[in-house]
Amino acid sequence: MSMTVACVVAARPNFMKMAPVVQALRAIPGIRAPLVHTGQHYDDAMSRVFFDELQMPEPDVNLEAGSGRHAEQTARVLERFDDYLEATRPDAVLVAGDVNSTFACALAAAKRTIRVGHVESGLRSRDRTMPEELNRILTDAISDWLFATSADAVENLRGEGIDDAKIHLVGNSMIDSLRRHLPAARARRTPERFGLERHAYAVVTLHRPSNVDDPARLRAILDALRHLAALLPVILPVHPRTAARMDALGEADAPTGRLIRTEPLGYLDFLDLMDSARLVLTDSGGIQEETTALGVRCLTLRDSTERPITMTEGTNRLLGSDPRAILPAAREALAMPSDGARVPLLWDGHAGERIASILARSDRRAGLEKSAPAAV
Ligand code: UD1
Repeated sequence: MSMTVACVVAARPNFMKMAPVVQALRAIPGIRAPLVHTGQHYDDAMSRVFFDELQMPEPDVNLEAGSGRHAEQTARVLERFDDYLEATRPDAVLVAGDVNSTFACALAAAKRTIRVGHVESGLRSRDRTMPEELNRILTDAISDWLFATSADAVENLRGEGIDDAKIHLVGNSMIDSLRRHLPAARARRTPERFGLERHAYAVVTLHRPSNVDDPARLRAILDALRHLAALLPVILPVHPRTAARMDALGEADAPTGRLIRTEPLGYLDFLDLMDSARLVLTDSGGIQEETTALGVRCLTLRDSTERPITMTEGTNRLLGSDPRAILPAAREALAMPSDGARVPLLWDGHAGERIASILARSDRRAGLEKSAPAAV
């Protein structure tokens, strides 16, 4: 058996999803799994640190696509990844999540009739104003292996008429990374380094354009956070998009006292911080799942979630998009006892191995088909 699966990473949320898959693929004799970084995220804090901490191999190539308008960024990745495919001709391409590079690379491969696998397939927020929702739908429509994290994702794919044979419920590879690295994260003493007492602070992350791009809305959210900080200390690791918007509002000076503004954190520091938080407030996708796995209450500042399992089987609550909902919901959450960790089906630390073995099996089958005598 020999098979080359080009594995694509692009932006911060991809790294933890892909690292366990790359590792599992490389452990299978006969499989080559080169790593392609599209360069959508490029800062050390948004990219480099994750390679170091997740012990991910160096990318074989970096396409250096960088930031830009959606069309520009997507087009740049499409063109550069197509050149990579032309030069290397892999047997399959594996993409993860829902960022612009996910769709661009899937499209480049599909146009060359190279088979595409999508890690974290089938999630749907049903809000097409989210760029990620378009990336999810389009990527799934042209993928050959749809690796789903949960049963609701499988149902979404079936509902879109996708052939059952392509759909594989494998669990959550991001939770593989969480389980693997939690002991190292807990040793980092991150809350203590910020002067926070474990289980007595809130972590806040915000980066969705819908929350941070409108100055009035961002100001209202920051006001709510100042009020929240009167209840318990709040730490806010700030995404570059949000940092730029906060600076434009004149929020450049780090708030002092109980509202701590900091740079984006590395994987281990953030995991440690989340694990010992009393409460997390976010608009991220992945954090909704990580808090479920850790048993930490999560309030999601969005109208919809593509991850309903974190509400039905986890610790997540959808707040809607009105910043006035933050304070009452936080009060309510703080009045409740802490949650226990939840483990939705197959969020068991082995999703990466399942994905790798499905890909390896398919190659064996393709090999058999190729070597089978032609029917007469
Ligand atoms: C992207 C993804 C989003 C994901 C998020 C996580 C899409 C459509 N969006 O959004 O799904 O949740 O990443 O972070 O693909 N910037 C830097 N340094 C970097 C990267 C970005 O300063 O390393 C700046 C850019 O210049 C830009 C802003 O941050 O001003 C936004 O970056 P961009 O990659 O366009 O989108 P995200 O908001 O990060």
